[in-house]
Formats: sequence, C-alpha cells, structure tokens
Amino acid sequence: MKFNIKEITRRGFIATTVKTTLGGYLAFSYGSAIAAVLDQKDTRIGLIYASRYGATADNAAWIAKGAGLDVTLLDIEAINVSSVINRYDRFIVGSGVWREGIHEAIRTMMTKYAAVFDEKLIASFVVCGTQPNSEENKARIAGYFSGIHDPLKQPPLLSQALGGRLRVESLSEQDYELLSNFYHNILKTELANWDRTDPAAARSFGEQTNRQIRSVQTRRVSGAV
Ligand SMILES: Cc1cc2nc3c(=O)[nH]c(=O)nc-3n(C[C@H](O)[C@H](O)[C@H](O)COP(=O)(O)O)c2cc1C
Repeated sequence: MKFNIKEITRRGFIATTVKTTLGGYLAFSYGSAIAAVLDQKDTRIGLIYASRYGATADNAAWIAKGAGLDVTLLDIEAINVSSVINRYDRFIVGSGVWREGIHEAIRTMMTKYAAVFDEKLIASFVVCGTQPNSEENKARIAGYFSGIHDPLKQPPLLSQALGGRLRVESLSEQDYELLSNFYHNILKTELANWDRTDPAAARSFGEQTNRQIRSVQTRRVSGAV
C-alpha cells in the first residue's frame, strides 16, 4: 500500500490537532470545573446590612444560612466601610425601611463606593412592612431599592423585598409618636404589633444568591466574562 506523504502528513496533522485540541479542551474544562468549585468555596462574601429593630439583622442571618458560603455579616453601624470594602470578593447589601427610605449610611456607602459595587454587588434586599401585592406597593418598594441602586451603572441581578416586623414596645419615643399618628390619622387603626418575617423566604433568597455566585464564577473561569 502506497502512502502519499502529503496525505500522511495531513492525517497526522489532523490526528495530532484533534488530540491536542481535545486534550487541551478536557484539561481546560476539568480545570475550569475545579477552579469554579475552589473559587466558589474561597469566595469571601460580605453581607452589609442596616437594621434598627432587628428584623433586617435576622433576615441577613437567614440569607447567609441559605447561601451556605463564606458569608460575613457586617452591620453598617458597627463597621468602618473603608476598611472592609477591599476584604470581600462579592457583596450582598440590604436595609430596613423607615419613613419611606433606607438607612442613610447605606445610601452614602453606595454612592461613595459605586465603582466597587458595580463590580462586586451580587444581590440586594430591603426589609419593610409594604408587601408587593399591588402595583402601587410594587412602585413604593422600587423606590426603596433606588436608595441602593441609583448610584450603580445597573442594579444587581438579584433583588428582593423581605417582610419585616413591628414591636411597639421596642420603638423609640420619636418612632412611637410618628407611627401612632400615622396609624390613628391615616390608617384609622390602633398601633399594634405585626410580624411579616419569613425565614424560609430569606433562606431561599440566600440559595438563589449562591446559584448566582456560582454561575458568575463559572462564566468567569471559562472566559465568558
Ligand atoms: C419608624 C418606622 C417607620 C417605618 N416606615 C416604613 C415605611 O415607610 N415603609 C415600609 O414599608 N415599612 C416601614 N416601616 C416598617 C419597617 O420597615 C419594619 O419594621 C422593618 O422590620 C424595619 O427593619 P428593622 O426591624 O431591621 O429595623 C417602618 C417602621 C418604623 C419603626
């Protein structure tokens, strides 16, 4: 059997190319998978939250539990933002809502570190009394989120309004007076305790955050982003 030298060279070339490409591809995919797992495990997540009466702090803890990753809970009133901002690979930011707005320190932080959050903010949440059960309420909640998102080029892929609570006996004198007037004059009811916290919903939001971090990580390792 006669071989055409050009043909052998061509076949050899194709075989070598296929082997090299496939081998390279498998090694790359395998490496990507491992890197993704390692990256995800090693990803340090800072969850910065603002809470006055505790419901936002509780929601933050439930989200961290659902995320099941290396999440550090950071109370905005207990940290120096400038010294923690570089310690984390990803951030989740959340705030309670009082008098139609989020905590001023969260608003200030988002403006000051917009470039960092443009890159690292994976999810945001607000904890409030308003439920997203009408168009009017949804617009109101969107207004609360604007305090977090407005300084950014675009909002994070994940955002959720979570239920808060009111414990009349815990209110400051000023808040008691404000809410009593609001309940009497506008809602025409007595100021009373309510609790709309939902640990399962917050945990589920944490799980979604985990999936989001995993998908960003995988895309990043495989060079898609
Ligand atoms: C003084 C005061 C004002 C509030 N104003 C609003 C409001 O404008 N819109 C809203 O949806 N919820 C409002 N709430 C409900 C809070 O969002 C809810 O109590 C939430 O749990 C607060 O978070 P925290 O428990 O972490 O402080 C208000 C609560 C208080 C005490």
